[in-house]
Amino acid sequence: MREQLLAAEKVKAIEWRDGTLYLLDQRLLPQQEVWLAYDSAADVAEAIRAMVVRGAPAIGIAAAYGLVLGARARLAESDPYWQVALEDDFTVLAESRPTAVNLFWALERMRERLQRLKSGEAPLAALEAEAVGIHQSDREANLTMAQLGMELIRKHQGNSQNILTHCNTGALATGGFGTALGVIRAAYLEGLVERVYADETRPWLQGSRLTAWELLGEGIPVSVNADSAAAHLMKTRGITWVIVGADRITANGDVANKIGTYQLAVNAMHHGVRFMVVAPSSTIDMGLENGEDIPIEERDPRELLEVGGQRIAADVDAVNPVFDVTPADLIDAIVTEKGVVERPDAAKMAQLMCRKRLH
Ligand code: MRU
Repeated sequence: MREQLLAAEKVKAIEWRDGTLYLLDQRLLPQQEVWLAYDSAADVAEAIRAMVVRGAPAIGIAAAYGLVLGARARLAESDPYWQVALEDDFTVLAESRPTAVNLFWALERMRERLQRLKSGEAPLAALEAEAVGIHQSDREANLTMAQLGMELIRKHQGNSQNILTHCNTGALATGGFGTALGVIRAAYLEGLVERVYADETRPWLQGSRLTAWELLGEGIPVSVNADSAAAHLMKTRGITWVIVGADRITANGDVANKIGTYQLAVNAMHHGVRFMVVAPSSTIDMGLENGEDIPIEERDPRELLEVGGQRIAADVDAVNPVFDVTPADLIDAIVTEKGVVERPDAAKMAQLMCRKRLH
């Protein structure tokens, strides 16, 4: 399975080559495939804010490389207090987006690596190795989660089935081939998936632009639907699972994910459709008791009021929260690389976080 999955790894969104960070510009997909090069922390922060790169694990990885770029510039100034100056880079990267905790988790790992520097150790090489390690371990986590999530699907229903997903949780959003989309890929390889229904994911259209493009590239049957069609599809199209990713999971198992996820979970409960969340442990924030404390990003209302820069709405204001919180009691399973939590609650989440990684 591992080899088959790795062979399916066709798309990449992040590349670190010869000290430069390359990002596939996700604002232009699927019409254009344009790679942009970055060599400063501030520019990487702006790329995250503008969603050149997006998806919780991917923005954590990009921020880690951004910090390497920041350190390189600070060290080049031969300032003995370069670590103090580097705090500005930590800040600018941390302020790029508020909801996905992977961003802060990755920056924290970079900070800890800095604090562990031994005398005589080359700081830049150490930081670069740490960022590459963050990237690589996300890829490994994807593989483990794909296997665990696929087994869960098989355990509950042996036959081929239809799956509904939201936003983009694939290769574009991670360091590997995806979280929720990784599980869907693995399940498809095992003959457990007939068709994927991809919510278009208004307003940024991660579903119709990115998820559909990734699945199409692999020949996995996919149809795009309006977000508001989801309940109807659950009722009429034999959907057995809703499978989504996460941007932050709190200590009690509440899940922040792309706006629209919460209403999917409510509808899934009503229709007896199982609801699976797939996320690496870097998405789990044990420092927050429950989802009420998660900062929810609000983006420019023009994302809703305009299409392609052209105004489509009446002359009104708009509210544009881009994440929502699904309460733990609507979730059947949270799949991580450390293991699976069924019917999540605080005790089970605490137990999960005590475990070592499975891979
Ligand atoms: O605003 P985005 O596109 O960064 O939001 C992404 C999501 O909500 C994903 O579902 C989540 O990050 C999980 S990606 C593996």
